[in-house]
Amino acid sequence: MLRGDKVGLRARYEADIPILLTELYDDPVNSSRSESRPWRPITPGSKDPRLVVDDTQQGLVQFSIVELEGGTLVGTATFWGIDTHNRNAHLGLGLLPSARGKGYGADAVAVLCHYGFVVRGLQRLQIETLADNAAMLRSAERNGFVREGVLRSSAWVMGEFLDEVVLGLLAQDWKTLPGAGNSS
Ligand SMILES: CC(C)(COP(=O)(O)OP(=O)(O)OC[C@H]1O[C@@H](n2cnc3c(N)ncnc32)[C@H](O)[C@@H]1OP(=O)(O)O)[C@@H](O)C(=O)NCCC(=O)NCCS
Repeated sequence: MLRGDKVGLRARYEADIPILLTELYDDPVNSSRSESRPWRPITPGSKDPRLVVDDTQQGLVQFSIVELEGGTLVGTATFWGIDTHNRNAHLGLGLLPSARGKGYGADAVAVLCHYGFVVRGLQRLQIETLADNAAMLRSAERNGFVREGVLRSSAWVMGEFLDEVVLGLLAQDWKTLPGAGNSS
């Protein structure tokens, strides 16, 4: 497990799957805002790749996020599009509704940065999020990500086109941040 100040990122356990299914992926609004495809229900017991991890996929690493105190499941973190030639990857996060607004998102981004820069030796990390997602933007910026551009009307979300923001963080900038080495 990788540890931050408040949360840990560990492997996906079988017992996590029904909780993530019910609390995250069964919610059309949450799913539509987090994924660039239309929501559709996931059949319980299916092998949907968002829930059931395929360890043979080299470009993708999925974690379950747990509270360090007590080990309760609080969400999911994804490291995707890992490009070992250009040494970059993308980050994604989804916290259960009851776990939001407690500092877990910013801490999980810090742990994902540690994974990307220290464990994987990457050079650049990227996040794409909806322009109105203040909590995700702030979680990224607190960890040194900078806004690099706006993709105008790039996301169809529940009946309207929304802008997306692209944020990036380079290894050399991350290393100079206070607290960059706090995760382990
Ligand atoms: C986005 C998400 C991961 C953020 O995690 P979180 O634990 O809720 O955020 P934190 O509590 O760590 O807060 C991080 C910062 O955002 C601010 N923030 C949190 N919720 C906010 C809100 N609703 N509006 C404005 N700012 C907010 C916090 O004050 C904090 O800022 P600070 O560092 O200046 O104090 C989480 O809310 C979530 O999973 N949302 C639904 C799924 C989603 O949007 N995923 C991202 C897809 S790209």
